[in-house]
Amino acid sequence: MDYESLGAQALDSIAKAQDLDALEALRVAFLGKQGSISGLLKTLGAMSPEERQTTGPKIHALREGVTNALAEKKAALEGAALEAKLAAETVDLTLPAPESARGSVHPVSQVMDELAEIFADLGFAVATGPEIEDDWHNFTALNMPESHPARAMHDTFYIDKDASGYETEQDMVLRTHTSPVQIRAMLAAGGDKPLRIIAPGRVYRSDSDATHTPMFHQVEGLVIGKDITLAHLKWTLETMLKAFFERDDIVLRLRPSYFPFTEPSVEVDTGYSYVDGRRVVGGSGDAPGHSWMELLGSGMVNRHVLTAGGYDPDQWQGFAFGVGVDRLAMLKYGMNDLRAFFDGDARWLGHYGFSGLDVPTLSGGVGVQA
Ligand code: DAH
Repeated sequence: MDYESLGAQALDSIAKAQDLDALEALRVAFLGKQGSISGLLKTLGAMSPEERQTTGPKIHALREGVTNALAEKKAALEGAALEAKLAAETVDLTLPAPESARGSVHPVSQVMDELAEIFADLGFAVATGPEIEDDWHNFTALNMPESHPARAMHDTFYIDKDASGYETEQDMVLRTHTSPVQIRAMLAAGGDKPLRIIAPGRVYRSDSDATHTPMFHQVEGLVIGKDITLAHLKWTLETMLKAFFERDDIVLRLRPSYFPFTEPSVEVDTGYSYVDGRRVVGGSGDAPGHSWMELLGSGMVNRHVLTAGGYDPDQWQGFAFGVGVDRLAMLKYGMNDLRAFFDGDARWLGHYGFSGLDVPTLSGGVGVQA
Protein backbone atom coordinates (compact mmCIF):
# COMPACT_ATOMS: atom_id res chain seq x y z
CA MET A 1 0.00 0.00 0.00
CA ASP A 2 1.33 3.43 -0.86
CA TYR A 3 1.96 5.92 1.87
CA GLU A 4 -0.80 8.29 0.69
CA SER A 5 -3.63 5.79 1.06
CA LEU A 6 -2.12 4.58 4.34
CA GLY A 7 -2.25 8.18 5.59
CA ALA A 8 -5.78 8.65 4.32
CA GLN A 9 -6.91 5.54 6.17
CA ALA A 10 -5.21 6.66 9.37
CA LEU A 11 -6.79 10.11 9.22
CA ASP A 12 -10.15 8.56 8.54
CA SER A 13 -9.98 6.32 11.61
CA ILE A 14 -8.83 9.25 13.73
CA ALA A 15 -11.75 11.35 12.51
CA LYS A 16 -14.13 8.55 13.49
CA ALA A 17 -12.81 8.08 17.03
CA GLN A 18 -15.74 8.43 19.41
CA ASP A 19 -13.92 9.26 22.64
CA LEU A 20 -10.54 9.91 24.21
CA ASP A 21 -9.95 6.23 24.99
CA ALA A 22 -10.50 5.21 21.38
CA LEU A 23 -8.21 8.02 20.25
CA GLU A 24 -5.47 6.88 22.62
CA ALA A 25 -5.76 3.34 21.25
CA LEU A 26 -5.21 4.71 17.75
CA ARG A 27 -2.21 6.72 18.86
CA VAL A 28 -0.63 3.58 20.27
CA ALA A 29 -1.50 1.64 17.14
CA PHE A 30 0.21 4.20 14.86
CA LEU A 31 2.93 5.82 16.89
CA GLY A 32 3.49 3.54 19.88
CA LYS A 33 6.65 1.44 20.14
CA GLN A 34 5.04 -1.36 18.15
CA GLY A 35 2.94 1.07 16.10
CA SER A 36 2.61 0.74 12.33
CA ILE A 37 4.17 4.13 11.53
CA SER A 38 6.96 3.55 14.05
CA GLY A 39 7.55 0.26 12.16
CA LEU A 40 7.82 2.13 8.85
CA LEU A 41 10.37 4.51 10.33
CA LYS A 42 12.50 1.55 11.37
CA THR A 43 12.65 0.30 7.74
CA LEU A 44 14.54 3.47 6.77
CA GLY A 45 17.77 2.11 8.24
CA ALA A 46 17.81 -0.85 5.84
CA MET A 47 17.24 1.23 2.68
CA SER A 48 19.78 2.32 0.16
CA PRO A 49 20.61 6.05 0.29
CA GLU A 50 18.67 6.71 -2.94
CA GLU A 51 15.61 4.89 -1.73
CA ARG A 52 15.81 6.64 1.60
CA GLN A 53 15.91 10.00 -0.15
CA THR A 54 12.60 9.42 -1.88
CA THR A 55 10.88 7.32 0.79
CA GLY A 56 12.14 9.10 3.95
CA PRO A 57 10.21 12.36 3.44
CA LYS A 58 7.03 10.41 2.73
CA ILE A 59 7.21 8.42 5.95
CA HIS A 60 8.06 11.54 7.96
CA ALA A 61 5.16 13.42 6.32
CA LEU A 62 2.89 10.52 7.20
CA ARG A 63 4.01 10.60 10.81
CA GLU A 64 3.58 14.36 11.03
CA GLY A 65 0.12 14.25 9.48
CA VAL A 66 -1.04 11.57 11.89
CA THR A 67 0.49 13.34 14.90
CA ASN A 68 -1.30 16.57 14.03
CA ALA A 69 -4.58 14.82 13.38
CA LEU A 70 -4.36 13.07 16.77
CA ALA A 71 -3.73 16.38 18.58
CA GLU A 72 -6.58 18.16 16.83
CA LYS A 73 -9.01 15.34 17.47
CA LYS A 74 -7.93 15.22 21.11
CA ALA A 75 -8.66 18.92 21.58
CA ALA A 76 -12.02 18.53 19.88
CA LEU A 77 -13.01 15.53 22.05
CA GLU A 78 -11.96 17.33 25.25
CA GLY A 79 -13.96 20.40 24.28
CA ALA A 80 -16.97 18.25 23.60
CA ALA A 81 -16.57 16.46 26.93
CA LEU A 82 -16.56 19.82 28.76
CA GLU A 83 -19.62 21.00 26.82
CA ALA A 84 -21.44 17.81 27.73
CA LYS A 85 -20.50 18.16 31.39
CA LEU A 86 -21.68 21.78 31.51
CA ALA A 87 -24.93 20.82 29.85
CA ALA A 88 -25.51 17.95 32.28
CA GLU A 89 -24.61 19.80 35.50
CA THR A 90 -27.03 22.55 36.40
CA VAL A 91 -26.50 24.95 39.31
CA ASP A 92 -29.48 25.39 41.61
CA LEU A 93 -29.22 28.95 42.86
CA THR A 94 -32.09 28.41 45.29
CA LEU A 95 -30.12 25.88 47.39
CA PRO A 96 -28.98 27.26 50.79
CA ALA A 97 -25.33 28.35 50.86
CA PRO A 98 -23.06 26.32 53.16
CA GLU A 99 -22.75 27.88 56.63
CA SER A 100 -19.43 29.63 57.08
CA ALA A 101 -17.92 29.65 60.55
CA ARG A 102 -18.71 32.90 62.30
CA GLY A 103 -16.76 34.34 65.24
CA SER A 104 -18.39 35.85 68.29
CA VAL A 105 -17.81 38.87 70.47
CA HIS A 106 -16.17 37.91 73.78
CA PRO A 107 -18.37 38.66 76.81
CA VAL A 108 -15.62 40.95 78.19
CA SER A 109 -15.66 43.05 75.01
CA GLN A 110 -19.44 43.04 75.04
CA VAL A 111 -19.60 44.23 78.67
CA MET A 112 -17.01 46.94 78.01
CA ASP A 113 -19.13 48.14 75.09
CA GLU A 114 -22.21 48.07 77.29
CA LEU A 115 -20.47 50.16 79.96
CA ALA A 116 -19.10 52.62 77.38
CA GLU A 117 -22.63 53.03 76.02
CA ILE A 118 -24.11 53.60 79.48
CA PHE A 119 -21.42 56.08 80.51
CA ALA A 120 -21.51 57.91 77.17
CA ASP A 121 -25.13 58.71 77.97
CA LEU A 122 -23.94 60.24 81.27
CA GLY A 123 -21.40 62.40 79.43
CA PHE A 124 -18.28 60.28 80.01
CA ALA A 125 -15.57 59.98 77.35
CA VAL A 126 -13.45 56.83 77.00
CA ALA A 127 -9.76 57.27 77.88
CA THR A 128 -6.92 54.80 77.44
CA GLY A 129 -3.37 54.29 78.67
CA PRO A 130 -0.52 51.83 78.10
CA GLU A 131 -0.58 48.33 79.56
CA ILE A 132 3.18 48.51 80.07
CA GLU A 133 3.15 51.43 82.46
CA ASP A 134 5.88 53.23 84.31
CA ASP A 135 6.26 53.04 88.04
CA TRP A 136 5.33 56.70 88.54
CA HIS A 137 1.90 56.51 86.81
CA ASN A 138 1.04 53.10 88.23
CA PHE A 139 2.07 53.79 91.83
CA THR A 140 3.79 57.02 92.86
CA ALA A 141 1.37 59.48 91.28
CA LEU A 142 -1.48 57.52 92.82
CA ASN A 143 -0.13 58.23 96.29
CA MET A 144 1.73 54.95 96.56
CA PRO A 145 5.35 56.05 96.94
CA GLU A 146 8.14 53.53 96.82
CA SER A 147 8.11 51.23 99.85
CA HIS A 148 4.46 52.14 100.49
CA PRO A 149 2.89 49.02 102.02
CA ALA A 150 -0.12 49.28 99.67
CA ARG A 151 2.16 48.31 96.81
CA ALA A 152 2.22 44.84 98.30
CA MET A 153 -1.50 44.45 97.52
CA HIS A 154 -0.55 44.90 93.88
CA ASP A 155 2.25 42.38 93.63
CA THR A 156 2.87 42.18 89.94
CA PHE A 157 5.11 41.75 86.94
CA TYR A 158 7.99 44.17 87.00
CA ILE A 159 10.07 44.89 83.93
CA ASP A 160 13.67 45.75 84.63
CA LYS A 161 14.36 49.16 83.06
CA ASP A 162 17.67 48.07 81.60
CA ALA A 163 16.25 44.90 80.09
CA SER A 164 12.98 46.43 78.91
CA GLY A 165 14.23 48.04 75.73
CA TYR A 166 12.31 51.15 76.79
CA GLU A 167 14.07 54.46 76.97
CA THR A 168 13.11 55.16 80.53
CA GLU A 169 14.65 56.19 83.77
CA GLN A 170 12.02 54.24 85.65
CA ASP A 171 11.21 50.61 86.14
CA MET A 172 8.29 49.54 84.03
CA VAL A 173 5.44 47.39 85.20
CA LEU A 174 2.49 45.59 83.66
CA ARG A 175 -0.11 47.95 85.04
CA THR A 176 -1.82 46.53 88.11
CA HIS A 177 -4.98 48.59 87.67
CA THR A 178 -6.57 51.10 85.29
CA SER A 179 -6.06 53.90 87.85
CA PRO A 180 -2.90 55.26 86.12
CA VAL A 181 -5.21 56.38 83.31
CA GLN A 182 -6.66 58.84 85.85
CA ILE A 183 -3.29 60.57 85.98
CA ARG A 184 -2.82 60.51 82.22
CA ALA A 185 -6.30 61.94 81.61
CA MET A 186 -5.82 64.68 84.20
CA LEU A 187 -2.44 65.69 82.79
CA ALA A 188 -3.83 65.67 79.25
CA ALA A 189 -6.70 67.92 80.36
CA GLY A 190 -4.25 70.51 81.64
CA GLY A 191 -5.55 70.92 85.18
CA ASP A 192 -8.10 73.62 84.43
CA LYS A 193 -11.28 71.96 83.22
CA PRO A 194 -13.85 69.50 84.52
CA LEU A 195 -13.28 65.89 83.52
CA ARG A 196 -15.57 62.89 83.07
CA ILE A 197 -13.90 59.72 81.77
CA ILE A 198 -14.02 55.97 81.97
CA ALA A 199 -10.97 53.87 81.16
CA PRO A 200 -11.61 50.22 80.27
CA GLY A 201 -8.68 47.88 79.79
CA ARG A 202 -6.47 44.96 80.70
CA VAL A 203 -4.60 44.82 83.99
CA TYR A 204 -2.13 42.32 85.45
CA ARG A 205 -1.33 40.78 88.82
CA SER A 206 0.51 37.66 89.87
CA ASP A 207 -2.65 35.87 90.99
CA SER A 208 -4.23 32.68 89.75
CA ASP A 209 -7.19 30.62 90.90
CA ALA A 210 -10.85 30.10 89.94
CA THR A 211 -11.70 33.75 90.54
CA HIS A 212 -8.33 35.36 89.74
CA THR A 213 -6.32 35.29 86.53
CA PRO A 214 -2.92 36.97 86.02
CA MET A 215 -4.59 39.20 83.41
CA PHE A 216 -8.05 40.61 83.91
CA HIS A 217 -10.11 43.66 83.02
CA GLN A 218 -11.19 46.79 84.83
CA VAL A 219 -13.11 49.91 84.07
CA GLU A 220 -11.90 53.00 85.84
CA GLY A 221 -14.09 56.04 86.30
CA LEU A 222 -13.01 59.60 87.09
CA VAL A 223 -15.03 62.77 87.50
CA ILE A 224 -13.35 66.06 88.34
CA GLY A 225 -15.19 69.30 89.00
CA LYS A 226 -15.38 72.16 91.48
CA ASP A 227 -18.35 70.82 93.43
CA ILE A 228 -18.33 67.07 92.92
CA THR A 229 -19.33 65.11 96.04
CA LEU A 230 -19.75 61.56 97.27
CA ALA A 231 -23.48 61.93 96.48
CA HIS A 232 -22.62 62.25 92.77
CA LEU A 233 -20.55 59.10 93.08
CA LYS A 234 -23.41 57.15 94.62
CA TRP A 235 -25.97 58.37 92.07
CA THR A 236 -23.64 57.65 89.16
CA LEU A 237 -22.89 54.10 90.29
CA GLU A 238 -26.54 53.40 91.05
CA THR A 239 -27.63 54.71 87.65
CA MET A 240 -24.90 52.78 85.91
CA LEU A 241 -25.73 49.49 87.67
CA LYS A 242 -29.47 49.86 87.07
CA ALA A 243 -28.83 50.31 83.36
CA PHE A 244 -26.27 47.50 83.26
CA PHE A 245 -28.31 44.88 85.10
CA GLU A 246 -31.56 46.27 83.68
CA ARG A 247 -33.26 46.36 87.08
CA ASP A 248 -34.65 49.25 89.08
CA ASP A 249 -34.19 47.56 92.45
CA ILE A 250 -30.39 47.89 92.68
CA VAL A 251 -29.52 48.79 96.28
CA LEU A 252 -26.00 49.94 97.15
CA ARG A 253 -24.22 49.96 100.49
CA LEU A 254 -21.19 52.20 100.87
CA ARG A 255 -18.64 50.89 103.37
CA PRO A 256 -15.65 52.90 104.61
CA SER A 257 -12.44 51.46 103.24
CA TYR A 258 -8.90 52.41 102.32
CA PHE A 259 -7.29 53.11 98.97
CA PRO A 260 -4.17 55.26 98.73
CA PHE A 261 -5.62 57.25 95.84
CA THR A 262 -8.93 58.22 97.47
CA GLU A 263 -9.90 59.99 100.70
CA PRO A 264 -12.39 59.10 101.96
CA SER A 265 -12.51 55.68 100.33
CA VAL A 266 -15.59 53.54 100.05
CA GLU A 267 -16.19 50.00 99.06
CA VAL A 268 -19.48 49.58 97.28
CA ASP A 269 -21.61 46.52 97.97
CA THR A 270 -24.79 45.53 96.23
CA GLY A 271 -27.62 43.34 97.47
CA TYR A 272 -28.23 40.01 95.78
CA SER A 273 -29.98 36.70 96.24
CA TYR A 274 -29.76 33.23 94.77
CA VAL A 275 -32.34 32.36 92.13
CA ASP A 276 -32.15 28.79 90.76
CA GLY A 277 -28.65 28.46 92.19
CA ARG A 278 -27.45 31.60 90.44
CA ARG A 279 -26.47 34.92 92.01
CA VAL A 280 -28.91 37.60 90.94
CA VAL A 281 -28.19 41.21 91.73
CA GLY A 282 -31.10 43.20 93.15
CA GLY A 283 -32.81 44.19 96.36
CA SER A 284 -31.27 45.16 99.68
CA GLY A 285 -28.67 42.84 101.11
CA ASP A 286 -30.57 43.13 104.41
CA ALA A 287 -33.82 41.81 102.94
CA PRO A 288 -34.79 38.21 103.78
CA GLY A 289 -32.89 35.70 101.65
CA HIS A 290 -30.49 38.38 100.45
CA SER A 291 -26.84 39.22 101.18
CA TRP A 292 -24.35 41.95 100.32
CA MET A 293 -21.61 41.41 97.80
CA GLU A 294 -18.59 43.60 97.30
CA LEU A 295 -18.71 45.07 93.82
CA LEU A 296 -16.15 47.84 93.44
CA GLY A 297 -13.77 50.31 95.04
CA SER A 298 -14.21 54.05 94.93
CA GLY A 299 -13.87 57.31 96.79
CA MET A 300 -13.09 61.00 96.56
CA VAL A 301 -9.86 61.62 94.68
CA ASN A 302 -6.99 62.09 97.13
CA ARG A 303 -5.39 65.57 97.18
CA HIS A 304 -2.01 64.11 96.29
CA VAL A 305 -3.49 62.45 93.22
CA LEU A 306 -5.10 65.70 92.06
CA THR A 307 -1.76 67.43 92.50
CA ALA A 308 0.08 64.73 90.56
CA GLY A 309 -2.50 65.14 87.80
CA GLY A 310 -1.87 68.88 87.64
CA TYR A 311 -5.09 69.97 89.39
CA ASP A 312 -5.12 72.40 92.33
CA PRO A 313 -6.72 70.41 95.18
CA ASP A 314 -7.94 73.61 96.82
CA GLN A 315 -10.10 74.36 93.79
CA TRP A 316 -10.92 70.98 92.31
CA GLN A 317 -12.24 67.74 93.70
CA GLY A 318 -13.75 64.62 92.28
CA PHE A 319 -14.61 60.98 92.63
CA ALA A 320 -13.12 57.84 91.15
CA PHE A 321 -14.02 54.19 91.03
CA GLY A 322 -12.60 50.97 89.68
CA VAL A 323 -14.63 47.89 88.85
CA GLY A 324 -13.74 44.42 87.56
CA VAL A 325 -15.27 43.87 84.12
CA ASP A 326 -14.88 40.09 84.19
CA ARG A 327 -16.80 39.87 87.45
CA LEU A 328 -19.57 42.08 86.08
CA ALA A 329 -19.78 39.82 83.02
CA MET A 330 -19.93 36.70 85.23
CA LEU A 331 -22.67 38.22 87.37
CA LYS A 332 -24.74 39.35 84.42
CA TYR A 333 -24.34 36.38 82.11
CA GLY A 334 -23.93 33.56 84.64
CA MET A 335 -20.47 32.08 84.07
CA ASN A 336 -18.77 30.75 87.20
CA ASP A 337 -15.13 30.07 86.30
CA LEU A 338 -13.07 33.09 85.35
CA ARG A 339 -10.29 30.97 83.85
CA ALA A 340 -12.60 29.83 81.04
CA PHE A 341 -12.73 33.47 79.90
CA PHE A 342 -9.18 33.26 78.63
CA ASP A 343 -8.87 29.60 77.53
CA GLY A 344 -9.93 30.49 73.99
CA ASP A 345 -12.17 27.40 73.81
CA ALA A 346 -14.35 27.91 70.74
CA ARG A 347 -17.22 25.95 72.36
CA TRP A 348 -17.25 28.34 75.35
CA LEU A 349 -17.09 31.34 73.03
CA GLY A 350 -19.87 29.89 70.89
CA HIS A 351 -22.03 29.54 73.99
CA TYR A 352 -21.26 32.76 75.85
CA GLY A 353 -20.12 34.97 72.96
CA PHE A 354 -22.28 37.59 71.30
CA SER A 355 -23.17 38.18 67.69
CA GLY A 356 -21.25 41.05 66.12
CA LEU A 357 -24.67 42.52 65.37
CA ASP A 358 -25.66 42.69 69.06
CA VAL A 359 -24.29 46.18 69.46
CA PRO A 360 -25.35 47.46 72.87
CA THR A 361 -27.39 50.63 72.68
CA LEU A 362 -29.41 52.35 75.36
CA SER A 363 -32.46 52.45 73.12
CA GLY A 364 -32.06 48.88 71.89
CA GLY A 365 -31.08 47.52 75.31
CA VAL A 366 -27.61 46.96 76.72
CA GLY A 367 -28.72 43.65 78.13
CA VAL A 368 -28.74 41.26 75.18
CA GLN A 369 -29.31 37.80 76.56
CA ALA A 370 -26.50 35.36 75.80
N1 DAH B 1 -7.38 50.56 91.54
C1 DAH B 1 -8.11 49.76 92.49
C2 DAH B 1 -7.73 48.32 92.34
O1 DAH B 1 -7.35 47.92 91.30
C3 DAH B 1 -9.57 49.91 92.31
C4 DAH B 1 -10.03 51.28 92.68
C5 DAH B 1 -10.39 51.56 93.95
C6 DAH B 1 -10.04 52.26 91.72
C7 DAH B 1 -10.82 52.83 94.31
C8 DAH B 1 -10.43 53.56 92.05
C9 DAH B 1 -10.83 53.80 93.37
O2 DAH B 1 -10.49 54.54 91.18
O3 DAH B 1 -11.27 55.05 93.69
O4 DAH B 1 -7.84 47.58 93.26
